[in-house]
Amino acid sequence: MNVLATRIGKLELESPLLTASGTFGHDPAALSFLQPGDLGALVLKTVTPEAREGNPNPRMCEWPGGVMNSIGLENKGLAYWREHVAPQLAVCPVPVVANAGGHDLEEYGVMTAAFDAMQGVAAIELNLSCPNVKGGTQFSTDPDALMEVVELCRKQTAKPLWVKLSPNVAAIAPLAQAAEAAGADGLVVCNTVLGLLVDWRTRKPRLGNGFGGMSGPAVRPVALRMVWDCFRASKLPIIASGGASSADDVLDFIVAGATAVQVGTASFRRPDAISRMATELRAILAENDFTLDSLRGSLEWPTPVSCAGAASRTS
Ligand code: FUM
Repeated sequence: MNVLATRIGKLELESPLLTASGTFGHDPAALSFLQPGDLGALVLKTVTPEAREGNPNPRMCEWPGGVMNSIGLENKGLAYWREHVAPQLAVCPVPVVANAGGHDLEEYGVMTAAFDAMQGVAAIELNLSCPNVKGGTQFSTDPDALMEVVELCRKQTAKPLWVKLSPNVAAIAPLAQAAEAAGADGLVVCNTVLGLLVDWRTRKPRLGNGFGGMSGPAVRPVALRMVWDCFRASKLPIIASGGASSADDVLDFIVAGATAVQVGTASFRRPDAISRMATELRAILAENDFTLDSLRGSLEWPTPVSCAGAASRTS
């Protein structure tokens, strides 16, 4: 029996460990870092209808808490993707999740319809939360706007539709509920945390675009809080994303309510991180006779509940 087998809605996965968008390749060379059965799904970098050049250099820098990036959704656009990337996906050994970006409602609709038509795409993740481009969070900071874009995209596809939420909000629960009401199949919680690193010597930001999105260990407590808030606010499966680099981190997210966990920054440091985590995860589950299902959402919250902004889970 595969103890890591996981289901996100109707999507069956061999493992709860996924790549985080924009942090892993999709070709055989990239996948050769991982052992079969360790990766549940390959989530790819955001694609937009038109090619984008991205933000000025430098676009990434490290700090003791992790990484800060401001890539600016650089990508070659839908036409290139359709011709050069999509054909390779049909032979990918794991389910592929395509990630859609756009400037406005119409562009999200176009991307969703395009991915819907591609045989190699198993699920679609809507990137409604990029902090590095103008308007990148317009749909993930306002529940009405989020509902409008998810409803529109829902009409374009019957494939699993995941919504990637932003941590850069005061309360995430209303956004999770809006995604659920609009027909989403899963919540990705969450994108990077907006931040700023400066170099006092040059008097300049360390990233070419000024602000950037923080990822890595320092954002894990933020992501955990948001996973727990979403778990209590919505019945949708949650795909956690935020600084996981060990099996313990993964199990923390599962106990807080996640069904799967995306790994990003850890793979930059070690491209085989997901396989190392999967091995560790199997060992912990076997030693303790736990299952992922029995642990999911089992966090025992001190009473009375004092967490601001979260609605109650109804069952
Ligand atoms: O700047 C970027 O391309 C990052 C995208 C994201 O965090 O969604």
